[in-house]
Amino acid sequence: MNRPDSLIFVIFGASGDLTKRKLMPALYLLYKSGRLPRRFAVLGMARTVYDDDSFRTSIHEGLLNFIRQDEVDQDKMKAFLREVYYLSADPSEAEAYIKLKDRLEELDRIKDNSHNYLYYLATPPLLYGIIPRHLKTAGLNREDKGFKRIIVEKPFGYDLQSAQELNRIYLDVFKEEQIYRIDHFLGKETVQNILALRFANTVFEPLWNRNYVDYVEITAVENMGIGSRGGFYDGVGTLRDMVQNHLAQLLAVTAMEPPAVFDASGFRNEVVKVYQSLKPLSDEDIRCAVVRGQYMASEGRKGYREEEHVPFLSRTETYLAMRLELNNWRWGGVPFYIRTGKQMPTKVSEIVIHFKPAPHSMFHCGSNPCPVHNRLIIRIQPDEGVVLRLGMKKTGEGFEVLPRDMDFSYAEIGRLPTEDAYARLIEDCMLGDSTLFIRSDAVEAGWRFFDSILKYWKNTPDCPLYGYPAGSWGPLEADRLIASQGASWTNPCKNLTNTHLYCEL
Ligand code: BG6
Repeated sequence: MNRPDSLIFVIFGASGDLTKRKLMPALYLLYKSGRLPRRFAVLGMARTVYDDDSFRTSIHEGLLNFIRQDEVDQDKMKAFLREVYYLSADPSEAEAYIKLKDRLEELDRIKDNSHNYLYYLATPPLLYGIIPRHLKTAGLNREDKGFKRIIVEKPFGYDLQSAQELNRIYLDVFKEEQIYRIDHFLGKETVQNILALRFANTVFEPLWNRNYVDYVEITAVENMGIGSRGGFYDGVGTLRDMVQNHLAQLLAVTAMEPPAVFDASGFRNEVVKVYQSLKPLSDEDIRCAVVRGQYMASEGRKGYREEEHVPFLSRTETYLAMRLELNNWRWGGVPFYIRTGKQMPTKVSEIVIHFKPAPHSMFHCGSNPCPVHNRLIIRIQPDEGVVLRLGMKKTGEGFEVLPRDMDFSYAEIGRLPTEDAYARLIEDCMLGDSTLFIRSDAVEAGWRFFDSILKYWKNTPDCPLYGYPAGSWGPLEADRLIASQGASWTNPCKNLTNTHLYCEL
C-alpha cells in the first residue's frame, strides 16, 4: 500500500468530543512518528464559531489532556497545529459545501495537494445521511483529480431499515472501496492479536469448535456512566452503542473461519459468514435469553435517570447480556454469552473460551470442581494478555490436581500495546486498506439479527428493564441466564491490575 504524498483530512463535527479526545490525538501521533503524507492539512468544519487560531488553541488544550505525557513533544505539537485549519459552517446546509469547496481549493494551493480528500464524519448520526448527498451535489465525491474517501462513525444505522437506507445513500455517492465504516475495536492491537493467536498457531485451532468448546463468554464492561453524553446515548442505548458493533466484531474474530487470504476481501467475507450464521431469535428466545438493565443510584454514584439530558422516566438500556448461537458446523449448539454495561465494578473487555472437561477424571481436585475446566482468557483491555487455565499436579504426595493459570501479559514482557486504535485505522484508510473496516453487507447481516431484539422491545412495552445498582455486576437475571449453563460469569476482581485476580465464585 502506498502512502499518498498529499492529503487534506476534513473533519465534519470538528468542535465535538470525538475530535478532541480521539481524532486529533491520533493525527498528532501519526504526525509525530512521520506517518502522515508529506503535504498535509486538517480542515475542521462545524457550526461553532472559531477561526483557525482559536480552533488550534482548543485542539492544543485537548491534546494536552488526552495524550499520554510521554507522547508530548511541544515542538512537534506546535508544528502539527500549524497544519490545522477551521471552517465555521453548518454541515446540514447545502451552502456550507460551496464554502467548503472554496476552502479546499485554497488549501490545495497552499499545501500543493493533489486533490486527495479524506472526510471523517464525527457528527451526530442524524447527519450521516445528509453529508454525503451534499458532497455529491458539490462534486466533492469525484475522483477525476485525486482520491476521495469517507470514514463514518458508528452506529451505522438505527436499525436494519435505516442501515439499508444509509448504504443506499453512500453507494450512490461513493464506491464501496471509498467507504470506511469504522469500529475502533478492530483497531485495537489485542483484537487483531486474536487472529494471530488463532491462525498463526496450530495448538488452538483443532480444539476451536463444538467438539471441545463448552461455551464462550464475551464481555466489554465499563466502570463509568454515560457522563455528558446523555443527549446522544438516550436515543441509542447499549444495543446500538456497543453490541451491534463492538461486541459483534469480537464475536466475528472469535468465531470466524480462517480466511484463505488475509486481505480486505478474504477477512471481510469470513466476518459476513459469521453474522449470516447467527441463529435467528424468536420472541421466546428474546424474552428468556436477552437481559437488559439500567443502572440505579448507589454508593454515591448517580443513577442513569439522574444523568444530564436523560429524561426522568427513560427506559434506555445501559446493560445487556444475552445468549446467542451460530448455525454452522464449527459452532452448532455452542452458546455464546455476551454482555456489556456501564457503571460496572471495573472496566474490562475480554473473551473467555471454556473448554469441555476431560471425559474421565481420575484425580482428586481438593475443594475445586473436578475435573478442571480448561479456559483461555483473551484480555483485550486492560492488563492486555492471554491466560490459559490448566489442571496441574499439586507438588508432593498423592495426586491432587489444582487449577493453575499460565499467563502471558504484555506488561510483563515490557511491550504494552501502545498503538492507538484510531491512529491505526486512520492510517489504514490513508493507505487505502479497508480490511479492518466494516463492509456494507456485514452491517446489514449484523442488523438483520439484532433488529429482532429492537422490534421485540418496541412491541412489548412491558418487557422488563432491570435496575441494577451502579457499581454492581448488573442484574441478577443475567446471572440466572448463564446459570442455566451450570456456569457463572468470569468476573475479574475489582480494580483489575493483575491477571491472577479472577474471583472464584
Ligand atoms: C464507544 C462507545 O464506541 O466505545 C462508548 O460509544 C464506549 O459508549 C466506548 O464507552 C468504549 O471504548 P473503549 O475503547 O474505551 O473500550
